[in-house]
Amino acid sequence: MKVTTTLARCVTPDGTPMVLQEHDGQHYLKVGGVQLMSTTASSSEQQMAEIACERVGGKARILIGGLGFGYTLKRVLELCGVDAVVDVAELLPEVVEWNREHLQHVNGRLLDDPRVRVHVADVYELISKASGNPYHAILLDVDNSPDPLVQKGNGRLYGRDGIQLAKAALRAGGRVVYWSANTDKGFARALERVYPRVECVSAKAYPKAKRFTHTLFVGDRD
Ligand SMILES: C[S@@+](CC[C@H](N)C(=O)[O-])C[C@H]1O[C@@H](n2cnc3c(N)ncnc32)[C@H](O)[C@@H]1O
Repeated sequence: MKVTTTLARCVTPDGTPMVLQEHDGQHYLKVGGVQLMSTTASSSEQQMAEIACERVGGKARILIGGLGFGYTLKRVLELCGVDAVVDVAELLPEVVEWNREHLQHVNGRLLDDPRVRVHVADVYELISKASGNPYHAILLDVDNSPDPLVQKGNGRLYGRDGIQLAKAALRAGGRVVYWSANTDKGFARALERVYPRVECVSAKAYPKAKRFTHTLFVGDRD
C-alpha cells in the first residue's frame, strides 16, 4: 500500500490546520482536510497565466495572488519578457518556505528568478496600497473560489470593494483573472458591474480531463 507522508504543517490565520503531503510521488496541499491543490491537476492554474499574459508586452508588471505550488508563476515567467516584474503575494510564510524546501523539483527555483518579488502578505493589502495603476495583469488564485477556504477574510477580494480595488490597481487596458473551482453567476455579474468586458472561461483541471470543472473569470479594463 502506498503511504501518505505529511511533509510539513502550519495553521492558517483562522486557526485551521494546513498540511503539505506526499503520496505516490504527488504533492497535496490541504486546509482542514479539504484539498486546496495538488500536483495532479495544474492545467487551469497554467491556463490562467496564459489568459492573463495575452495582452502584456515586454516590460510588464504583473501581480500574482497566491503562490501555491508555483504553476501559475512558472507559466507567467515563461510568457513574459526578461524586463518583466512579477510581484507574488503569498499569505503564508510556510508556503514560501515549502516551495524552497520541498517543491523545487516540481517547478524549479522560481523564487530565485530576478524578475520575481515575493511578498509574504495578503494580496488584498498589496492591491489596496498599489498606487498609480501599476499592473498590466493581476492573477488571483488565493482560494477555492469566492467561497473562502484559506481564510474567511478572502471573501472581501470577491466583493464589490475588492473588485473595484483590483480594477484600480490595473493600468488602462489591463486584465484581471480570477481562478475558481466553481461557476458562479453572482460573481460574474459583480464583475460585469465594474469591468466593461467580462468573460467566464471554462477550464480543465488536467489535460485529459473529460469535463471542464474550473472557471476563470476574466475582466478587461478599457
Ligand atoms: C490554490 S493555491 C494557488 C495555486 C497557484 N496558482 C499555483 O499555480 O500553484 C492558493 C494559495 O494562495 C495563498 N493565499 C490564500 N489567501 C491569500 C491571500 N489573501 N493573499 C495571498 N495569498 C493567499 C494560499 O496560502 C495558497 O498558497
